[in-house]
Order: sequence, then C-alpha cells, then structure tokens
Amino acid sequence: MSELARAARAVAGGRHIAVLTGAGVSAESGIPTFRGAGGLWRGFDSASLATPEAFAANPKLVWEFYNWRREIVARADPNPAHVALTKLAGRVPRLSLITQNVDRLHHRAGSRGVLELHGNLWEIRCTRCGETSDRTGDILPPLPSCGACGGLARPAVVWFGEALPDDVWSAAQESVRDADVLLVVGTSAVVYPAAALVTLGKRAGQTIIEVNLEPTPVSDAIDIGLYGKAGELLPQLVPSEQE
Ligand code: OAD
Repeated sequence: MSELARAARAVAGGRHIAVLTGAGVSAESGIPTFRGAGGLWRGFDSASLATPEAFAANPKLVWEFYNWRREIVARADPNPAHVALTKLAGRVPRLSLITQNVDRLHHRAGSRGVLELHGNLWEIRCTRCGETSDRTGDILPPLPSCGACGGLARPAVVWFGEALPDDVWSAAQESVRDADVLLVVGTSAVVYPAAALVTLGKRAGQTIIEVNLEPTPVSDAIDIGLYGKAGELLPQLVPSEQE
C-alpha cells in the first residue's frame, strides 16, 4: 500500500484528527514562507524581523515588513490545501485545526474554531496601553498608532521570545493529546513551542502524518511522510462524502 493510501485510510478511520499547519500550507496562495526560498525580504531574513528586539530597534522597518505581508495576504485567496482541511472537518467525527500562520486563510476557507498559536496579522496592539484593534484589510500608516491613547501600535502577532496565548496553547495541547491522527502540514518544525506539538501525543495508536515538500527535523518521529505540495496532497486525504 502506498504512503498516500495508508494516510488516507488513517484519516478516514480517525476519531479525532488534529492538524498543525505552518507557512507551507499558504505557499500555494503566493504567501512567502519564512525559511527557504522566499524567506528573504529586502535581504533581511524574515524570521529576524519577527522579534521584539527588531521592533524596538527599528519599528518603521518592522512595520514595512508587516505592511508588505498584509498587502500580499489581502490579495491572496485560500488554496486547495485550505479548502481540503475545511472539507475534512465536515467528514470526520472531530477535527482540531491548529496553525502557526497569521494570515487567516484557514478562516477565509471556512474553517471554524482555528487555534492561532501566533495570533494574526490583521490585529494591532498598543505598546503603551495594550488596546487591541481589528484592522482587517486596512492600509496602515508607516507607524500605526493606538486609537485610544496615541501610543505606538505593533502587529498583534507572537514574536520570537514571546509567550503564546495561554488559552490557545492549552487547547492546542489538549487536542493533540486526544487525537488519534495528527496531520503536520507545511511546517519546518523548528520553531518552539509549536514544533513540540508534533511529538506531544506520540503513543501507540496515534498516527502522525507529515505533509511537506521535504523531510524536516521531526520526520524521524512520524509514521507516514507525504512529500509534495500540500495543495495537491491534502485533497487526496479527504474521504468522499459516502465513506
Ligand atoms: P517555515 O517557512 O519555517 O517553513 C515552511 C515549510 O513549508 C517548509 O518546511 C517547506 O518545506 C514547507 N513548504 C513550502 N511550500 C510547501 C507546499 N506547497 N506544500 C507543503 N509544504 C510546503 O514556516 P513555519 O514552519 O510555519 O513565527 O514557521 C514557523 C514560524 O516561524 C512562523 O509561524 C513564524 C516564523 O518565524 C512567527 O512569526 C513567530
């Protein structure tokens, strides 16, 4: 039996499918990933701009980077990988969708209850009073300020060295521990604590499936590896409506 057939069988027979996605799931929507090809913006390593230190040193540069990403995301559409996960949720007893992405494309594809580990790109948060506001689709000034107190606002995303939102992180861990199938899609699995979810629920009886262009540091711990584009592979894991 092929790896793809084994994966499809595990998914179709799953009681609770937990899915962890990363930037690769949005790559076919034209959104650059953080590492590998596309991981550079104006010669800067994208991940190095996603830090509180980078923002403290040069908020204008970090905002330029995020405003650029906001524009790309605003123009992008969900791709067949996002759509497949939405369909899958309707065809299995339970599905939990956990994402490291801040682009909200899972929401736009119709997924519900998405656990956003790293926040999202559309909200901004005041660095002075903490007020958060939803600026979905808005074109922001080079240095956005808080509508309440006038302080400097920042993207309401989780940066390196910052804690994940407690409630989201707890819910993600619970889902992975409970799931009998874990689908890990389009993540380089090098950013913690998110990457720790891959092996958190590892036990006899849990099937871990990795979907990526190439093997990653967690590939040794997984059961089934599917190497290719998420937009081509995920639709093949969705059971037909009659199953
Ligand atoms: P990365 O950019 O590190 O990794 C993207 C992964 O997707 C790589 O392993 C690629 O091989 C894979 N990939 C690319 N195109 C694909 C495709 N079409 N189909 C399947 N796989 C594909 O992105 P993440 O692992 O999501 O955090 O990065 C994790 C975190 O690091 C991000 O959430 C962000 C970043 O810095 C913060 O901003 C805090």
